[in-house]
Amino acid sequence: MEKAKYIWMDGKLVNWDDAKVHVLTHTLHYGNGVFEGTRAYQTKDGLAIFRLEEHCKRLYNSAKITAIKPNIEIDELKNAHIELLKANEFKSNVYLRPLIYLGYGVMGVYHVKAPVHTMIAAWEWGAYLGDEGLEKGIRVMTSSIVRNSIRSNFGKAKAVANYLNSQMAKYEAIQAGFEEALMLDDNGFAAEGSGECLFIVRDGVLISPPNDNSLESITQATVLELAEDMGIKIQRRNITRDEIYICDEAFFTGTAAEVTPVNSLDNRTIGEGKRGEMTKKLQSAYFDVVFGRDQRYKHYLTYI
Ligand SMILES: Cc1ncc(COP(=O)(O)O)c(C=O)c1O
Repeated sequence: MEKAKYIWMDGKLVNWDDAKVHVLTHTLHYGNGVFEGTRAYQTKDGLAIFRLEEHCKRLYNSAKITAIKPNIEIDELKNAHIELLKANEFKSNVYLRPLIYLGYGVMGVYHVKAPVHTMIAAWEWGAYLGDEGLEKGIRVMTSSIVRNSIRSNFGKAKAVANYLNSQMAKYEAIQAGFEEALMLDDNGFAAEGSGECLFIVRDGVLISPPNDNSLESITQATVLELAEDMGIKIQRRNITRDEIYICDEAFFTGTAAEVTPVNSLDNRTIGEGKRGEMTKKLQSAYFDVVFGRDQRYKHYLTYI
């Protein structure tokens, strides 16, 4: 990770190296915090945040779900994103990480009296799964780690605690020589990657599982909108792992992962083992949107 100049903490720009918390920070011990992963791209009219509104809304929804009362209003948070990007004077594309967390002052599982804090960090970041991954695709394994059950965790929240699940799945996949993990849900259907939603293509139809067992992904929604606008036939339905083995194309979507082709699952080559035609079309349409090259979706960009 590239260091930047400042991190925004509760209304102040703090030098990167001074952005510290106490070791008795509640979130550090009991895992209740909520966060976002947002990107800003260098467009021809300057740096622009992609779908800031939706990311902030999801953050506040996550806080509501996990019973955290944010210490600032949502508009202040939006402005803070802009203030931080202005102050840091970034030269390339940026990843933003807002986090609402419980601080120091209260110990014990009952969290309600813990002080609430908000911070946003931002740094220059390239392709999460590598530039080669974007072009050639990645090797994925089905994880032995089942995606957090909706009976016990809140899957609509981008909650810190949910990411132990993702972390263990990612760890297992990397240790086994793959690049990413696909987690199944309680019933054995494909749920999501450790930080991505899944799409497959079969006979020209674009298929993505419903969000019952995946985060309500902003990238997935964007890709679905683009596909609809292109007249592509879409299905939202359950997918089994063997259907992925025999599909024509597969790809992951996520703010970090953008649109990353999956070239194999569990050592079964998918399609021709490279980025498929529909994947390429949607990936390039996605990049046109985030880089401000497609006027029709300009309303998704917040220019700095
Ligand atoms: C578990 C999980 N699923 C899906 C996604 C994709 O969501 P989005 O497209 O909103 O980044 C992410 C990333 O935020 C994630 O962490």
